[in-house]
Amino acid sequence: MNPLIHLDNFSKVFSTEEVDTHALQSINLSIDKGEYVIITGPSGCGKSTLLSMLGLLDNGSSGSYKLGEKEVTGLNASERARVRNTDIGIVFQSFNLISDLTVAENIGLPMTYRKDIAKKEQKERIENALQQVDMSHRANHYPGQLSGGQQQRVAVARAIVSSPLILLADEPTGNLDKKNAEAVLALFDKLHKQGTTICMVSHDVDVARHAQRVVRMLDGKIESDSGQQAAIVA
Ligand SMILES: Nc1ncnc2c1ncn2[C@@H]1O[C@H](COP(=O)(O)OP(=O)(O)OP(=O)(O)O)[C@@H](O)[C@H]1O
Ligand SMILES: [Mg+2]
Repeated sequence: MNPLIHLDNFSKVFSTEEVDTHALQSINLSIDKGEYVIITGPSGCGKSTLLSMLGLLDNGSSGSYKLGEKEVTGLNASERARVRNTDIGIVFQSFNLISDLTVAENIGLPMTYRKDIAKKEQKERIENALQQVDMSHRANHYPGQLSGGQQQRVAVARAIVSSPLILLADEPTGNLDKKNAEAVLALFDKLHKQGTTICMVSHDVDVARHAQRVVRMLDGKIESDSGQQAAIVA
């Protein structure tokens, strides 16, 4: 079976007038459908850069990226946005909900331009996503009326409403207290059990325990990958 995500010799250099930062250096990474992978490592090692490349928020500098059956290396911004909209769900540390839209409207946003999903089905999907994250009782509230943990659960609902190939998350519990963080992690565990493929960035060892596979980065490179070790042992 082909991996869902395949980065081959993938690098990212940020160039400013003064300095070139080699944020990712010759990354080789494959993620299979159904995996739950945590990317970890010290501050500045390239975790968020890697996640934003996987999320097609930007292009790499060299190497290739294949997502599902698609070669997504070097797409322009609008092509990337299209793939992101259908195939990728992303959750950030700072929820990023739109404050003057209700919870249900926020969750429906990724489907706004999806002509292939009829309005009736969009409504059903929003209801399902609300149920998944246990927020049906707050559908008509605004983000400012919710706790941080509730806002992040809404952000997760928005990320999964399009049934993406992969759910990406960058420190999704970073702004939450322990109790809310545990609720959000329990939600990721549930989605993983239901078959969702997850790649999450976290520097927190407690969070890393939730995943089967931990990829450690250092200075823009993969230092260790428990998934690969397991494959070699097997
Ligand atoms: N847009 C950018 N322009 C220039 N340099 C950048 C940019 N984004 C990231 N970098 C640099 O790339 C390196 C990797 O940054 P990145 O944000 O991926 O680290 P991180 O592992 O997510 O760190 P943290 O744990 O603190 O979030 C850092 O040296 C950072 O300064
Ligand atoms: Mg980061």
